Amino acid sequence: MKRLRLFLILLFISFPLVASGAEKAKTVDELAKMYDVSSCKRCHKKQFAEWEKSIHAKSLIGTGRTLGGFKGFITGGLMGAFTKSGVKDVKDIKMDHFAMCFKCHLPQALTSGTDELARQLAKAFVDADRETLGKLNINCNVCHTTKALIHKWQDGEPEKNVTYGPALEGDHDDKMTPKMKKSVVMKESVFCGQCHGTGPNLEFPQPSQCGTIYGSYLHAYIPAGGTKTCQDCHMKGGDKGHLMPAYRDPDMRKWGMNVEVETLGYKFLPKAGDLVPTAVVTVKMTNKAGHRIPDG
Ligand code: HEC
Ligand code: HEC
Ligand code: HEC
Ligand code: HEC
Ligand code: HEC
Repeated sequence: MKRLRLFLILLFISFPLVASGAEKAKTVDELAKMYDVSSCKRCHKKQFAEWEKSIHAKSLIGTGRTLGGFKGFITGGLMGAFTKSGVKDVKDIKMDHFAMCFKCHLPQALTSGTDELARQLAKAFVDADRETLGKLNINCNVCHTTKALIHKWQDGEPEKNVTYGPALEGDHDDKMTPKMKKSVVMKESVFCGQCHGTGPNLEFPQPSQCGTIYGSYLHAYIPAGGTKTCQDCHMKGGDKGHLMPAYRDPDMRKWGMNVEVETLGYKFLPKAGDLVPTAVVTVKMTNKAGHRIPDG
């Protein structure tokens, strides 16, 4: 019995870091540092320049509406309508309260952030503090490491020091990610589907519904004979690469919709001497995107 106790104590001493979760970020700056991508810029100039301009690079702010949506979620939801959330004030907020949003808007906060970080972010949303919120986003390491493996029972958890790409295996000349491995999902739509949603997120105590385009892609576009992936249209079509644009890009607007207009003008004569100029306008709009538009 004594020996067993000694063994258990020794076991605890050997793994204290795992037990206390010491690797998690307590502040925005700590999480930003853990996911720092400044080193990538030197060698991947094109990808970096495109990504920097993308909406993924400001996934807590968006066009401004995302920031506002989060603020409303905290003040009107957690502190308002969700009376059983346990939140009366920012200081009651835990990371779990954000899971129904950060699943897609900031997945690294859920795997690598503490409740203290959740409270700092909550305050930044309420104060509309763009400078703080702009430090965290969906960056190279979120896509090429954290979200790069999906089938964990087959492929295991993604390794922190590996960058997973669409093709290459071997050494990678980067300090943070000295190895490259191939991710089998990187060129597939399901990779984007991890955050672009199939419908309501029912796994949370308070379900959320936001991006649902992957659902529409699977259930409408593919059954109608669609053959393209998200990457084909959003990255390769027109060489948009890591900008991954949508309707704010004029080319995407053009490709997304076919509009045919036919008109016939004539004069209508309801009674003698009372000519009414009339027109028949037939508009045919066809959605050529790989899913419903608009979404979200
Ligand atoms: C880690 C989650 C995540 C992954 C993976 C992801 N996205 Fe996104 N994406 C988002 C979020 C969140 C937004 C919305 C950001 C906002 O508006 O605040 C977004 C926005 C977009 C937009 C809108 C762009 C705009 O300018 O309006 C497009 C298009 C898009 N993503 C395409 C893709 C494609 C294609 C893939 C796969 C190659 C992908 N995304 C993978 C989370 C993700
Ligand atoms: C399943 C993934 C997912 C979840 C969960 C999610 N979002 Fe989103 N969100 C997205 C994507 C993807 C977009 C943008 C693309 C689109 O509209 O399809 C988006 C767009 C938005 C927008 C609109 C931005 C604009 O410019 O119109 C707001 C606001 C927003 N999200 C806030 C939230 C909040 C707050 C939560 C939690 C209550 C949340 N989201 C949960 C994926 C998600
Ligand atoms: C939203 C997810 C996402 C983000 C963020 C992202 N990537 Fe990618 N990246 C992809 C996908 C998907 C592919 C594969 C495209 C294909 O071949 O179908 C890819 C491909 C690549 C490739 C292979 C060559 C190419 O351009 O296709 C490189 C290199 C790369 N990314 C580097 C980066 C760097 C550096 C960053 C940050 C500046 C970054 N990526 C950010 C999803 C992402
Ligand atoms: C010192 C230069 C250097 C730095 C720094 C660097 N890379 Fe690379 N990376 C490369 C080279 C070289 C390749 C191979 C490209 C090729 O052969 O086409 C590569 C390939 C890749 C690929 C593509 C693998 C594939 O399957 O096509 C990805 C993804 C990638 N790097 C991501 C990153 C990310 C993310 C960072 C920052 C954390 C980064 N790289 C930093 C030089 C670098
Ligand atoms: C056949 C080409 C095609 C495919 C496949 C495709 N898209 Fe799109 N997508 C478009 C076009 C074109 C637009 C812009 C349409 C418009 O004008 O609103 C768009 C718009 C979007 C938007 C913005 C929608 C909004 O209203 O906020 C998002 C997000 C997006 N796509 C993500 C994806 C994801 C994720 C996939 C894969 C599951 C995908 N797309 C597959 C062509 C495609």
